[in-house]
Amino acid sequence: MLTLGIETSCDETSCAILKDSDIILSNVVSSSLRRHRPFGGVVPEIASRHCLEQIDLVFNEALARAGIKPKDIGLIAVTNGPGLVGSLLVGVSFAKALSYQLGVPLVGVNHLEAHLVANFIRNAGDPVPGPGKKKPERFVGLLVSGGHTLLVAGERGRLTVLGETVDDAAGEAYDKVAKMLGLGYPGGPVIDKLAKKGNPEAIRFTKPKQDNRFDFSFSGIKTAVLYGIRDRRARGRGLDLNFKRDVAASFQHAVVSWLVDKTLDAAAFKQVQDVVVGGGVSANSELRKRLGEEGRRLEIRVWFPPLALTNDNAAMIARRGNDLYREGCVSSNELTADPNLSIV
Ligand code: KG4
Ligand code: ZN
Repeated sequence: MLTLGIETSCDETSCAILKDSDIILSNVVSSSLRRHRPFGGVVPEIASRHCLEQIDLVFNEALARAGIKPKDIGLIAVTNGPGLVGSLLVGVSFAKALSYQLGVPLVGVNHLEAHLVANFIRNAGDPVPGPGKKKPERFVGLLVSGGHTLLVAGERGRLTVLGETVDDAAGEAYDKVAKMLGLGYPGGPVIDKLAKKGNPEAIRFTKPKQDNRFDFSFSGIKTAVLYGIRDRRARGRGLDLNFKRDVAASFQHAVVSWLVDKTLDAAAFKQVQDVVVGGGVSANSELRKRLGEEGRRLEIRVWFPPLALTNDNAAMIARRGNDLYREGCVSSNELTADPNLSIV
């Protein structure tokens, strides 16, 4: 069966064709990133307008690259939350109209759940170490993106939330720190690159304490960077490249340490052998390295999606929709965008 995936939860417009549950025939992504750069973050109106302008083009391109016609589509999977309401509505409306026109079933997909299954598309997830690529029955999932930071437990096909950020998401902290350092948007990739040349011990950030041991907090570290920059300026010193490298390295070292420690603590708590990571921050080189190494030491398989599937894309939506459909889930034409859709 061919599944059409549609993703428009934020600043990307993406359509993908997935054959059965594993083979990506096409995965077209049109990003409006460039248009948001002057504002240092995503502007919701620009994002939704971009989705509206692009959805037809991206859909047709996905069909052309897969070499199929609309009548070949057997299932439509669409992100219906969480995300920006205007962007979400574009994808959901398009999917509903197409489902009605073609007479094929429709499945609403939770964007966060889809980020995790990006690991299970064949040739995609690369468990470290070991050869088995079969989806684990039980796992702990770390979801790290620009809007969310969550630890979940996967058991019997269900996800339950173990903890989440009480303030900023990890990706959001990267973006805000990059903005303070004048590094542009998005902040993750540029800080990741700069950090490689800085001293991770230059600044010691205080580890935040949470009542729930699996919760996170990233607003304190952001404020600490802000004060550091303010103090430096007050002393008449500028933000030279070495300073930026040291802030980037120290910030990344702290954030990655907190993510790694809590994830492995959750894996021990749930007594699982697999940790599955997803979301934009899963592209981070230090997170990949340190969680991979620590996992190996503890004989835990750590799954990271291939870099091409770390950012928002419709292949992961198609895969999640396909899984849900095979479990018997179908959405009605009443499906609507839910900006705050949560993992139950
Ligand atoms: O999942 P995603 O594409 O969009 C959301 O659903 O939010 O994640 C985007 C986030 C941005 O905050 C971006 O700065 C961050 O992922 N990101 C990274 C890296 N690449 C992207 N953060 C840290 N290191 C990276 N290499
Ligand atoms: Zn995302």
